[in-house]
Amino acid sequence: MGNINGYFKQQDIKDFNSNPFNIIGKDWMLVTAGNFDKINTMTASWGGLGVLWAKNVTFTFIRPQRFTKEFVDTEETYSLCFFDQSYKKALAYLGEVSGRDENKIEKAGLTPMFLDNTPCFEEANMVIICKILYHQVQEASSFIDGEFDKKMYPSKDYHTMYVSEIEKIYIKER
Ligand SMILES: Cc1cc2nc3c(=O)[nH]c(=O)nc-3n(C[C@H](O)[C@H](O)[C@H](O)COP(=O)(O)O)c2cc1C
Repeated sequence: MGNINGYFKQQDIKDFNSNPFNIIGKDWMLVTAGNFDKINTMTASWGGLGVLWAKNVTFTFIRPQRFTKEFVDTEETYSLCFFDQSYKKALAYLGEVSGRDENKIEKAGLTPMFLDNTPCFEEANMVIICKILYHQVQEASSFIDGEFDKKMYPSKDYHTMYVSEIEKIYIKER
């Protein structure tokens, strides 16, 4: 496992220079929400970073059956946490097992903490605090190619898209 020592320092978005295709699509991230009583997390490899409504935003996609969705829908904020390669196995596990069935955060060996009242993990090397602005369930009728819809959603469990303002970016300083 990587080094958890260090502290989180806020990064100005103009200094953000991570490649989203690598950090989300290739390395994956954790979507974490909850409160001081209970939190949950899940792995995500789909999503985006961009600009909308003159704000810097994240786009996060969550299927209805995810336990994490219940937490995201209850709170105003959630975090996106990014890790170094040594956590890939932990992320694979957190993306396979539901928090409904196991105390998966403890089993994955991650240490919950809060930044700006939003849950995240000490082991992360970067944390993005997201404030939900908008959520929308994807619709079958909006797909241009019906075959693609059938391929991606054979069970019709359409993702909810969350557009969230990037409130803060924290980088682990070692
Ligand atoms: C690499 C990877 C990427 C994933 N990406 C997403 C995603 O973007 N959206 C989603 O809803 N589920 C995604 N999942 C599935 C959830 O992480 C998985 O169903 C998880 O067990 C849900 O946990 P929960 O029920 O505790 O929320 C992904 C899983 C893996 C392994």
